[in-house]
Amino acid sequence: MLNKFVEGLESEGVVVISQCLVPVSPYEFPFRSYGRLIKVTLETFFLLRSRIEVIDKKCYGDWDRVIIAGPTWSYHASGPVLDFLDRFGKNVCGGQHVIPFISSRAYWRLHYLGLKWRLKRCGASVVEKPVVFTHPTREPWRTIGLIMQMRGKMVRKENSWFRKKYPGFGHNREQGNVALEKGRELGRTLNESA
Ligand SMILES: Cc1cc2nc3c(=O)[nH]c(=O)nc-3n(C[C@H](O)[C@H](O)[C@H](O)COP(=O)(O)O)c2cc1C
Repeated sequence: MLNKFVEGLESEGVVVISQCLVPVSPYEFPFRSYGRLIKVTLETFFLLRSRIEVIDKKCYGDWDRVIIAGPTWSYHASGPVLDFLDRFGKNVCGGQHVIPFISSRAYWRLHYLGLKWRLKRCGASVVEKPVVFTHPTREPWRTIGLIMQMRGKMVRKENSWFRKKYPGFGHNREQGNVALEKGRELGRTLNESA
């Protein structure tokens, strides 16, 4: 979704500088047991930070927009994003106009509120409404599908009963097109105000 959004921005001539947040010890996906899945769910619910590698100096500057992108983990921003905000948030987001970009199965609002609060504490001058993408499948399949994916037990057979209810994990192609268009829209806005 983020790549499509960036593609939209770049198609309008906007220069985008990207920085991946790279966890020093990333969680293994898929999780090796249900016990492990529950442990990680609890850790992330209680906002355990995932330490990231030091970010590049290219991130420090005065930007038209800073986009902070990441998934929802247990109703909150993910561990790497939380560590980023703790350690680099002030220097990267202070005085900047920030757009949160969220990928979530369904429940992103608390994530957004927490992120907004943290960004304000970092001194962000504007925190815009987030760009949000949720998984497009209906419940209960979308929750069951997420659990199966996290355990590496997704049903592979395309014509299976389950796959009729749950065509695939995550976001779909149409959402990719929406992300592209949203990127273009922001690009046009930036060009008009330039
Ligand atoms: C540890 C973990 C916890 C999650 N918790 C939530 C949650 O509380 N609410 C939600 O809507 N989605 C939750 N999700 C699903 C992700 O937000 C969703 O899959 C999102 O699209 C992230 O993209 P990814 O799975 O490709 O990383 C969780 C995913 C993981 C791995």
